[in-house]
Formats: sequence, structure tokens, C-alpha cells
Amino acid sequence: MQLSLSSTPLPSRLYELRSIIEPIDLAELFPLPQPLEVELGSGDGSFLAEYARRHPERNFIGIERLLGRLRKLDRKARRAGLANLRAIRIESSYFLRHLLPPGSTTALHIYFPDPWPKRKHHRHRLINEGFPSIACRALAPGGAVFLRTDHPDYLDQIDFVFGQCDAFVPIETPGERLVVLTDFERAFQAQGVKTMHAGFALRA
Ligand SMILES: C[S@@+](CC[C@H](N)C(=O)[O-])C[C@H]1O[C@@H](n2cnc3c(N)ncnc32)[C@H](O)[C@@H]1O
Repeated sequence: MQLSLSSTPLPSRLYELRSIIEPIDLAELFPLPQPLEVELGSGDGSFLAEYARRHPERNFIGIERLLGRLRKLDRKARRAGLANLRAIRIESSYFLRHLLPPGSTTALHIYFPDPWPKRKHHRHRLINEGFPSIACRALAPGGAVFLRTDHPDYLDQIDFVFGQCDAFVPIETPGERLVVLTDFERAFQAQGVKTMHAGFALRA
């Protein structure tokens, strides 16, 4: 059950950072201390708003750099009365490195990250050789990273960088996560574009 009352509209779910130096205080973001999941590059919030609605017993943060997309997420969350969902405008890697308290999230969702298809631009990809260690820092014991992409070449890079990191083991993505689609995923499916997914959990 959500904490919001239907007669009392929720205030904006966008969270204005007080500092870009100090880690966020999760108790300030959420009314209930519950397990946290974070989506990086949450786009218009199609996945996160629906997934948060299905899981009121968890808290969720969407990270996105584009304000227009964050506002769409905010509208979805407020319409659904989701007190367990917040959105922050910040760069994903910076958020993981400096603002998310270490060991605080049980899952990282990264769906259709910008593929940067040209080889000379691959260095801009979010999932690069440094990513598993920053994910490792962010995750609680037993936590996992779930990814989706439409780029076979990016999936190869994802498999490679996580394969190089002893902290992670590949896992199946639970079906109850896969059935909740993202905005880009819906568009790819409508165009008949094949999409792929991968999951990696912290080694026990
Ligand atoms: C291809 S879109 C996918 C959006 C959404 N995950 C979906 O599947 O519908 C990638 C999203 O990530 C955001 N993004 C890309 N790089 C980012 C970064 N470094 N930090 C935060 N957001 C980022 C973009 O603004 C965009 O909304």
C-alpha cells in the first residue's frame, strides 16, 4: 500500500540535490526505509513507474540527464500516487560514484543505454571496463545489475567487462522484471527490432 492519500496529490517526485559532494540521505527521499533499486537513464519512466507500482515494498530512484524525460516520469509517478519513487537529474556514473551511499541498492536497471555505435565513440558508453567496479560499490550484498540493449555489439562489450570482473556472476533475469517494458523497448518491438537482456549478480 502506498502512503499517499488519493485526496492529497503527491508533491513532485523530482528530487533537487542539496549537494553534489555529499551522498544523498535516503531517509530524506522516502517515507519508508525499504530495499532500494536504481534505474540509470530512466528515460520517460515507463519501466520504473510501472515496476514501482507493482512493488510498493521497495523504493526506487530514476537517474536521467534530460529534464523533459524526468518530467514525464514525475507525471506518471504522481498520477499513480507512488511515494516509493523519486527521480534525480544527474549523470549516471557520477551518481553511482559520489552520491549513492555505498552498498545501498539491491538492483541497478540499465535499459537501452545510448549505444554510441561508432567505434571511435565507444569510450562514451556507460558500460565500460570501469563500470563493474562502480556498480559493485553501489550494490548491497547479493545485489544485481539488469541490462537490456538492441545492439549485439554493446551486449558483447557488456558480457566482456562483467566477465573480467570476479565480483560478478551472470544470472537469468527474472520474468517478472522482463515483462515490464521500457519506452524504447516498446518502440523497438513495434519496429520488429530484436532486443537482448543480461543480468549479473554480486558473487556470494
Ligand atoms: C536510449 S534512451 C533509453 C531510455 C529508457 N531506458 C528506455 O529504455 O526507454 C537512454 C537514456 O539515457 C539517458 N542518458 C544517457 N546517458 C546518460 C548519463 N550518462 N546519465 C544520465 N542519463 C543518461 C538519456 O537521456 C536517455 O533518456
